[in-house]
Amino acid sequence: MPVVKEAYTFSDVLLVPQRSAITSRKHVDTTGRFSRRIALKVPLVSANMDTVTEAVMAIAMAQHGGLGIIHRFLTIDEESAQVAKVKRAESIVIEEPYTLSPTDTVAGARTLMRRWNVGGLLVVDGKKLVGIVTERDIHFLPREADAKPVTAVMTKDLVTAKAGVSVSEAEAILGKHKLEKLPLISAGGELKGLITAKDLKKKRLYPFASLDRKGRLLVGAAVGVVGDFMDRAAALLEAGADVLVVDVAHGHADHVIAAIERIKSKWPEAEIVAGNVATYAGCKDLVAAGADGIKVGVGPGATCSTRIVTGSGVPQLSAVMDCARITKEKDVPIIADGGIRDPGDITKALAGGASCVMIGSLLAGTEESPGWTIVRKGMKYKVYRGMASLAATISKKKKEGGPELEREDIAEVVPEGVEALVPYRGHAIEVLNQLAGGLRSGMSYSGAKDLPTLWRKAEFIRITPAGWAESKPHALEH
Ligand code: XMP
Repeated sequence: MPVVKEAYTFSDVLLVPQRSAITSRKHVDTTGRFSRRIALKVPLVSANMDTVTEAVMAIAMAQHGGLGIIHRFLTIDEESAQVAKVKRAESIVIEEPYTLSPTDTVAGARTLMRRWNVGGLLVVDGKKLVGIVTERDIHFLPREADAKPVTAVMTKDLVTAKAGVSVSEAEAILGKHKLEKLPLISAGGELKGLITAKDLKKKRLYPFASLDRKGRLLVGAAVGVVGDFMDRAAALLEAGADVLVVDVAHGHADHVIAAIERIKSKWPEAEIVAGNVATYAGCKDLVAAGADGIKVGVGPGATCSTRIVTGSGVPQLSAVMDCARITKEKDVPIIADGGIRDPGDITKALAGGASCVMIGSLLAGTEESPGWTIVRKGMKYKVYRGMASLAATISKKKKEGGPELEREDIAEVVPEGVEALVPYRGHAIEVLNQLAGGLRSGMSYSGAKDLPTLWRKAEFIRITPAGWAESKPHALEH
């Protein structure tokens, strides 16, 4: 006969305040990990959901020290393009800058600048750099000039630097000549790359940014476990994804294990995070298959109805604490995915052994999430939907190129998620600042200067519903 165990979630507990040597929350180091080799100074990750993370959100997350995972409810080309967009968003050296050839016209240059959203294009003859055309060169030209070749309007007298120039040297050259763009060339004059003043400014603006070895923003991308998932994985890695997230609702399953093994054997160097699971046994099997990080959470999410529909799941704090044993044993981080309602839940999830936290609902209302802002009764909202909701399931089937769903097909869908409106919350940075600030304070209440100290020192206390009611603002007129 099965036994009934007790399990807890975030609002069942509080962290007991501890003696602290931390004088300012600025001195707390919140660095966590998403996978074996991906460290995040701000251990927050935006969920791979179609109302949460595409390139714009992923860029904001990585700029502020976190990470975004592009959702997989896109065609392979669309998802890869989102990854490429993040990888191009900023870097120290753009290795393959956009270029024009000498025979391209002014009209062509205009179109390409608009399409690629850049203010200037290098002109190359074969591989040799011959000039640059910027917005300023063409903006005030009459329309009759549209048919002229770009060589007629480009700047030929270029300031360049040798490939391999240091960041400080590049900054000095850009400053001295008051330039926006510094092309890098070989001794023979071949174009080797580009450094832009805009990218260097961003480096200063975002000191915590999550960057790869080339100084580009980190980004992850989700894949499934059936159909064309190997083609998708290949395209995403080719586009520059730093980590693949093998993501299904019930990750502790034979076909998920087989999919991780296939991906890992084809790309042993690729960083793979897999999930979702809610038990240590699940973590063990996914790590044995090759996972470098495990996403933990079955049913805690704001839009999830899995537990109601299937009767399965584990309250999230207990799931995290059980799964965290794998981090100690195998040095594989776990990601607490779903159920974060308040900033304090992040500290509790990390104190319970998670190495970072994945967030959906709290980011879905921000400017950077995909989708329109809706105004209802004078209030602004954005749509947030579970990836197993009816609407998401129907649009996923459409993306897969299948036929229009018939009434009977729709009746067969058993949704495990809901659709909702979430209040508009402004820019992601405003939310991230609140969440990261709450985490720093939370860690200082536990006397923890960093995550390993939090794991060692944290002490949970079980509270009653009255204790939780006391914890929230109360006895006030709202
Ligand atoms: P929050 O609470 O941050 O949770 O909104 C985000 C996480 O919820 C999961 N998710 C789902 N779970 N049915 C589910 O049971 C769904 O339709 C669904 N959609 C998303 C997912 O793990 C996400 O990161």
